[in-house]
Amino acid sequence: MSVVDRGLAARRARSLGASYRLFYDEPVHLVRGEGVWLYDADGRRYLDAYNNVPSVGHGNPRVVEAMAQQAQRLNAHTRYLADGIVDYAERLLERFPEPLDRIVFTCTGSEANDLAFRMARTFTGGTGAIVTANAYHGITGDIAELSPSLSPVVAAHVRTVPAPDASLGDAAGAVFAQHVRAAAHDLIAAGHRPAMLLIDAVLSSDGIRPDPVSAFIDAAQTIREFGGLYVADEVQAGFGRLGAGMWGFERQGLVPDIATLGKPMGNGYPLAGVVAREEITTRFGSNDRYFNTFGGSSVAAAVGSAVLDEIDQRRLLDSAGELGRRLGRGLGAVAAAHAAFGDVRGAGLFWGIDIIDLDGNADAAAAARLVDGLRTAGVLISQTGPRNATLKIRPPLVIGADQVDLLLQRLDEVADAHEKTTGTERGWR
Ligand SMILES: Cc1ncc(COP(=O)(O)O)c(C=O)c1O
Repeated sequence: MSVVDRGLAARRARSLGASYRLFYDEPVHLVRGEGVWLYDADGRRYLDAYNNVPSVGHGNPRVVEAMAQQAQRLNAHTRYLADGIVDYAERLLERFPEPLDRIVFTCTGSEANDLAFRMARTFTGGTGAIVTANAYHGITGDIAELSPSLSPVVAAHVRTVPAPDASLGDAAGAVFAQHVRAAAHDLIAAGHRPAMLLIDAVLSSDGIRPDPVSAFIDAAQTIREFGGLYVADEVQAGFGRLGAGMWGFERQGLVPDIATLGKPMGNGYPLAGVVAREEITTRFGSNDRYFNTFGGSSVAAAVGSAVLDEIDQRRLLDSAGELGRRLGRGLGAVAAAHAAFGDVRGAGLFWGIDIIDLDGNADAAAAARLVDGLRTAGVLISQTGPRNATLKIRPPLVIGADQVDLLLQRLDEVADAHEKTTGTERGWR
């Protein structure tokens, strides 16, 4: 680390609370971003293959312009009548299937999930929730309790189910549904009728497991048999990420009772929300007032609309599909060439590769070395999964074919170097 960076890291440690974590042993000191590129304090350029928030690109000119113009004109909250928020709500809801026809705006995905849980409790009268074993849904008190990846302690009103196991083939859906059924029975026995099953549509923190889609359909049907709602957490999967339409649930061929949105929705501006059918929002609204000071502000609406314009005009849903297939094929080929690479899973522009040792066990240390090696090679990715041994590759949607190829080339080179230094090279297999 340079002397300057060491000084900054020390000041950071002295001023920021201890709950923060930095990526990399030698942190990256970023100063600028443009499109899919990030630049550090030494002027070094990195291909961003990690961040899904700036999905229409770092420093996107249309988004920045919309933000600045609206901030100059007016930035008010949702208690005044205004065109922008209604126009944006209508535009967004057009992209949802019936009967999802209402939206409530928040600032973060955590708040969206928190509100969804409140709505689900009010609507169903239940108090329990079911999530996957290594789920992450956010940071409010209620939602941290539904995020076992943060803490293995599971609250009395929460049950976890193992993520769908694609290796079970056609049986995966039935097995997943059986886990949901058992969890619902267990909740009821403990005095907590299930209010919702909350599922990240790409199961990111469970190791990136978007398949098989039948598992999600079976699970939605099962929770409804118990009077609970199926809540699709689209904070990661939404806005075209999975390369098959706008929403993860679209790829799965199901319609959730509630969808929660966030991250790419404002391309970095804090914009998130809950979409549900009218009877759910009305039931909640007749008992509870919900005012989120910054959620759905004039600037948030302008930014959200600019993001939709970018998605439409640059045909990003199509390119996430096309480039996603290129990326998926390429990752499969790179993985087949390296002993340290196990299962490759993903969809669209969100992929995971399991890193394994010679006995086939999850190898988090090797995954960390590969992530570090890629950083040195000028590509940013990360790790995820229950054992932190899955490479997480999730570039902004504006990545181009050349940049996908560059990412694949760098991954191949870094894996070669890793195998040479660790003696795990087995050649092609
Ligand atoms: C699936 C999922 N849901 C919810 C959240 C929480 O969103 P936020 O960080 O905006 O509160 C995240 C954040 O990583 C997430 O990955």
